[in-house]
Amino acid sequence: MSETAALAELAKRRGFFFASNGAYGGTAGFYTYGPEGAALKRNIEDAWRDLFVRKLGNVELEAPTVMPEAVFEASGHLDGFDDMIVECAECGATHRADHLVEDAVPDIEDAEALGTDRVGELIAEHDVVCPSCEAELADAPVDEFNLMFGTNIGPGSASPGYLRPETAQGIFVEFPRLKEYARNQLPFGVAQIGRAYRNEISPRRALVRVREFTQAELEHFIDPERDEPPIDRVADVELPLYPATAQHADDGEPEPHTVREALDDGIVGSEWVAYYLGRAMEFYERIGIDMDRFRYRQHLSGERAHYAADCWDAETELGGNWIEVTGFAYRSDYDLSKHGEYAEESFTIFRQYEEPRTVERAAVDPDMSYLGPEFGGEAAAIAEALEALAARDRSAFDGDEVGVNIDGETYTIPVKKTGFAVEEQTEAGEHITPHVVEPSFGVDRLVYSVLIHGLEADTVDGEERSFLELSPTMAPTTVAVFPLMTKDGLDDRARSIADRLRVEGFEVSYDDTGNIGRRYRRQDEVGTPYCVTVDYETKEDDTVTVRERDSTEQTRVQIEDLPDAIGRLVAGETLSEL
Ligand code: GAP
Repeated sequence: MSETAALAELAKRRGFFFASNGAYGGTAGFYTYGPEGAALKRNIEDAWRDLFVRKLGNVELEAPTVMPEAVFEASGHLDGFDDMIVECAECGATHRADHLVEDAVPDIEDAEALGTDRVGELIAEHDVVCPSCEAELADAPVDEFNLMFGTNIGPGSASPGYLRPETAQGIFVEFPRLKEYARNQLPFGVAQIGRAYRNEISPRRALVRVREFTQAELEHFIDPERDEPPIDRVADVELPLYPATAQHADDGEPEPHTVREALDDGIVGSEWVAYYLGRAMEFYERIGIDMDRFRYRQHLSGERAHYAADCWDAETELGGNWIEVTGFAYRSDYDLSKHGEYAEESFTIFRQYEEPRTVERAAVDPDMSYLGPEFGGEAAAIAEALEALAARDRSAFDGDEVGVNIDGETYTIPVKKTGFAVEEQTEAGEHITPHVVEPSFGVDRLVYSVLIHGLEADTVDGEERSFLELSPTMAPTTVAVFPLMTKDGLDDRARSIADRLRVEGFEVSYDDTGNIGRRYRRQDEVGTPYCVTVDYETKEDDTVTVRERDSTEQTRVQIEDLPDAIGRLVAGETLSEL
């Protein structure tokens, strides 16, 4: 069985995740996390919060998932958030056209970058057939399909809305309030962990491509001319980089470079992106990504999102495929400029000069008692045009007369009637549109990667076992407590030990069903790193057995020392060090 199939089976049987709405035949692209999966996902989110919000001094918000159409008109999603679709004329099934090409042509990894026309040609050239009914797709047109789920806000259709396709927009639209919260000082970072929705054409590979998923996004607002990341903090962190040049080369492979080397050699163009690539390494390691199955891949030019100036993806290898788990984008001033253009509020921030500056400003103060009688109904427009001209080209006022053009007609005015003057003004600063650096994590893909990378098998006492090698801080349960038998007071003792460990803050499960071997296997399969067994020796000397998941080694520990012992194991000590 492939590792993805093995995980799918285990995930369903042990309550990590399963296709939603099974009782009604299932709904493609939607998954429900069972108790184990929900706990693992929460632990991964907490690790993200710790590293990207708390440790970096950022703040977190929670915005609605439904947003009005105007937001997506401004953001560009209404026009540009499309995937390629091909509809089978025979059975009516729709498919992601670029994916069909990637499956049919092994050399093509990113067909989307080729455009709809070329993808249509490739479908014909390679005799691609419909995966549902096997009819030829050669003549089927390849179109763009907008991925947003639409809805109506309130009754009727007067206020169209959309489920947000990225959590980021909920942060951008609140910039006018967030900048005040940040006391109008750049840089500042705002994070959000929440649901995003995309009406994917072909959801597939379990949690990898779903229609409702969780993103953990950080929007870091910076002054591009003044703010620099604390690059020394990550300068020596080694990154497995797979730049565009290596992807184009026949024998190109990802290569390790420190953050400093990547910047000095121009492999990563943006210091901010490099900084976050470095910071994120600690996160991937902490949650349990196998770093031998991990790389940072630079976007090829045709692949970049409509807003991104430079973009790298973190990718994990799952069942032989490289999957994007995080996008690191330098979004420049794209988002805030767009919202500034479309919305009614200001999306700029006031940048104070280090020293106030004295500038010369040309202005006019037209003599309306002259312009009125002379030009009648055009007088106001002429006054306005004079003002614009003074700001644009003060030399136009050098002579005795100045000309302005309104709707193709030139009006000539004596300069002395314009009130033209150049004045000195002192300015404290200017309004700028901040740039945005964005690390955007797909939580579901991370959960899936951690599970696939953690799935192990070995033989214990001549019996095959599968187990999840989850880190003790990510595992849904830290300690499972068992009584050897449900008699002679062993079960009461085990229950009270479980309660005590819960009070100490550990995630504990109590299990007294089935033989002890089966109970160990059950915990191994959900990744519980430690099991505690209460047996008859406990009654004599107040000790219990502590068993470690990966080695299956056991040792005896005094009950009163148990919370401390488990704490030390979680912190990285081994059984032999207790
Ligand atoms: N705000 C930027 C943004 O949304 P993205 O690369 O489109 O960028 C970020 O998405 C992350 O969200 C991806 O790296 C991926 O992990 C996750 N993601 C995107 N679409 C997904 C889907 N259909 N199912 C599961 N995760 C998805």
